Amino acid sequence: MSFVSIHALSYSYPGTAAAVLNDFSLDLEQGEVVGLLGQSGSGKSTLLRLIAGLEAPSQGEISIQGETMSSRHKFVQPERRGVGMVFQDYALFPHMNVSRNIAFGLRGLSRNERKNRVTDMLELVKLADYGHRYPHELSGGQQQRVAFARALAPSPRLLLMDEPFSNLDSELKNGIRKELKELLHQTGITSILVTHDHEDAEALCDRIIRMTSFMPELQAGKKHQLVTS
Ligand SMILES: Nc1ncnc2c1ncn2[C@@H]1O[C@H](COP(=O)(O)OP(=O)(O)OP(=O)(O)O)[C@@H](O)[C@H]1O
Ligand SMILES: [Mg+2]
Repeated sequence: MSFVSIHALSYSYPGTAAAVLNDFSLDLEQGEVVGLLGQSGSGKSTLLRLIAGLEAPSQGEISIQGETMSSRHKFVQPERRGVGMVFQDYALFPHMNVSRNIAFGLRGLSRNERKNRVTDMLELVKLADYGHRYPHELSGGQQQRVAFARALAPSPRLLLMDEPFSNLDSELKNGIRKELKELLHQTGITSILVTHDHEDAEALCDRIIRMTSFMPELQAGKKHQLVTS
């Protein structure tokens, strides 16, 4: 049984006729980091939104660890899926300092446990002294690390990253890429990384998949057969 199973997924946005995803299937093993590439509009962000439970599929099923998340009969709310997400624009809360941003998704913990978890996450992303800063007082790369810390704080079983490097200049990106590689290795978390950059995908992912509009084309396990366009 795969850790994440996406089976025969189809989706059209409400009020639109064209399908964004059509009969799309993908399986992830535990701990696997899968890169998702594909032209603009091919449905990469939509796929992540479906997995996170921000949209419900028109057809098909999504399960995590054998538990159905989305199907014709069942829909698990996003906060109950154990899925963390990092968005392209980081989506930090501007009115909350770094610590409160990171603590945001932590439920069911005592005050002390929450504080410790925030401290651990700040250390993990190498921002131990930055808990009291506000997002606008941070560089782009630092903001992005906070976004990762916030996504990882509730110990998700699956991490979804939607072009997390696209707002960074190339020098900063190289540093962050190394850090992310370390972070993924350290946490061993099953992940999907959406990117436009083959180099990012090659550097970070165990497997790369290319999506094309309407006809997702799977290239399982064969990094070097990656179609270059
Ligand atoms: N809220 C929405 N309502 C209607 N159509 C949408 C909506 N969001 C996205 N779409 C359409 O769905 C298709 C897939 O969009 P999506 O954002 O998933 O693409 P993407 O692969 O992430 O593209 P990019 O690489 O540019 O981020 C596009 O044709 C887009 O116009
Ligand atoms: Mg997108």
